[in-house]
Amino acid sequence: MKITAETVSLNSRAWDFASLVLFEDEKTNRTTLKTLPPALAKKIEAARSLGDFTAKKDETLFIYPEGSIPSTRLFVIGAGTSDTFTLDRLRKTAATAMKKAKTCSAASVVFVVPKLEAGAFSPETIAQAVTEAALLSLYAFDAYKTKDKKPSTVKSLTLIVDDNKTAMQYRKGIAAGITIARAVAHTRDLANAPGGVIYPSTLADDARRTARACGIRATVLDRRKIEQLGMGGVINVGKGSIHDPRFIILEYKPRRFARTVALVGKGVTFDSGGISIKPSANMGEMRMDMHGGASVIGTLEAVAQLKLPVHLIGLIPAVENMPSGSAVKPGDIITQYNGMTTEVDNTDAEGRLILADALSYASGRYHPDVIIDLATLTGAVVVALGHHATGMLGTDEETMTALKSAGDTTYERVWQLPLFEEYDKQIKSDVADVKNVGGRWGGAITAAAFLKNFTGGSKWVHLDIAGTSYLEEAHEYIPKGASGVGVRLLVEYLRNLK
Ligand code: BES
Ligand code: MN
Ligand code: ZN
Repeated sequence: MKITAETVSLNSRAWDFASLVLFEDEKTNRTTLKTLPPALAKKIEAARSLGDFTAKKDETLFIYPEGSIPSTRLFVIGAGTSDTFTLDRLRKTAATAMKKAKTCSAASVVFVVPKLEAGAFSPETIAQAVTEAALLSLYAFDAYKTKDKKPSTVKSLTLIVDDNKTAMQYRKGIAAGITIARAVAHTRDLANAPGGVIYPSTLADDARRTARACGIRATVLDRRKIEQLGMGGVINVGKGSIHDPRFIILEYKPRRFARTVALVGKGVTFDSGGISIKPSANMGEMRMDMHGGASVIGTLEAVAQLKLPVHLIGLIPAVENMPSGSAVKPGDIITQYNGMTTEVDNTDAEGRLILADALSYASGRYHPDVIIDLATLTGAVVVALGHHATGMLGTDEETMTALKSAGDTTYERVWQLPLFEEYDKQIKSDVADVKNVGGRWGGAITAAAFLKNFTGGSKWVHLDIAGTSYLEEAHEYIPKGASGVGVRLLVEYLRNLK
């Protein structure tokens, strides 16, 4: 789909599908309605005065302009009151328009971008938001369907702007939005893919391919190398599977940068639970237990293409957690990369075992300014926050504040949970340095308390995306299944990094 910003009006061209946002408050609408031919404005007015369309959020109105403008369809999207209109409501209105355009089999679409409160967001930010939402709303995971595919018919999206200066600024935002949306779609594709397709070596292949395409470095450590390095978490979690583990390293290093950031992504390509096997209901969802790793790949891809001035390292311990005669067992004691020992109380708490190795590797090898890990780590975080916020815990308040703000902007919201030292007691072991489960209460927190032991001297933030990575219900621009969470959040955070 081609997206452009143009200083045209609805009167100047025939699109297959024209769309427009209106607010509940009349005053804000007046300027928008003034640009329409009176005959068309009257149709909207009729719907308003009958009470059929009051422009509440999520309300829509479909009009056949019948020559009053050259376009054959006009879709009006309600946005609520203008003072409650946010950047994300803008994303949602754009997404609603695109999805409707697709159901109409439209090829050319125009969207009149509503005015946000003056100065609240830059034209670039607005254009990026609309672009991301438009593209992501049309995402479909249909690579495995041989019939009933419904590919999008939309070939072009025109954004109407007032003047040439705004159009120039829009073009930058559109370009960034396209790059980011592609990376998010890539992350969704990886996380949605079946476990029979994406296992450690094929995840590594994808990472390598991605790295080549955007000019960054990829190194993949195989089982022998992982063993040599002493990554006992990765080896032990991976040893029940016929698919050997991999340790994926991506590195983007521009000529000039201020900070070095290490991203660590959980890459469990399928989590059966291992010997502590999960119940079979919905176990198939555990193919996306590598979403954190997929988000790391997507983020590096976007950051490299946007040429951000940050030294970025991506580390993905990739394993398949399976029960078998060779699998790690409850009661086993393993030695992690940093030399600490872990009592494996439950083989289903596998994510933290592989992340422990990756975190201490990140800290010891790269001495980054901060480590941020993303992991579908606990069911407990879903109990605590549901699907609308990522759990955030860590040792670096400054980074957490920055992530909170990036989360509010992108609407990939994060919510901090405490990491008081009192929780450490729950993961003490009688026989090893730590154990991998902390009992019934505060499961998302004790998981983070476990990880904290492996962060070396580094500043660190942990993002538990178990609830936000996989949606049971579609949103405007996030379909059912893998959400691609983390990419937009981290790109925004890294862009603002000083
Ligand atoms: N991958 C799961 C966590 C998960 C649950 C992700 C639901 C997405 C949706 C993780 O490896 C796991 O099994 N965690 C256990 C830990 C427990 C055994 C301490 C859990 O949360 O039940
Ligand atoms: Mn598990
Ligand atoms: Zn898991």
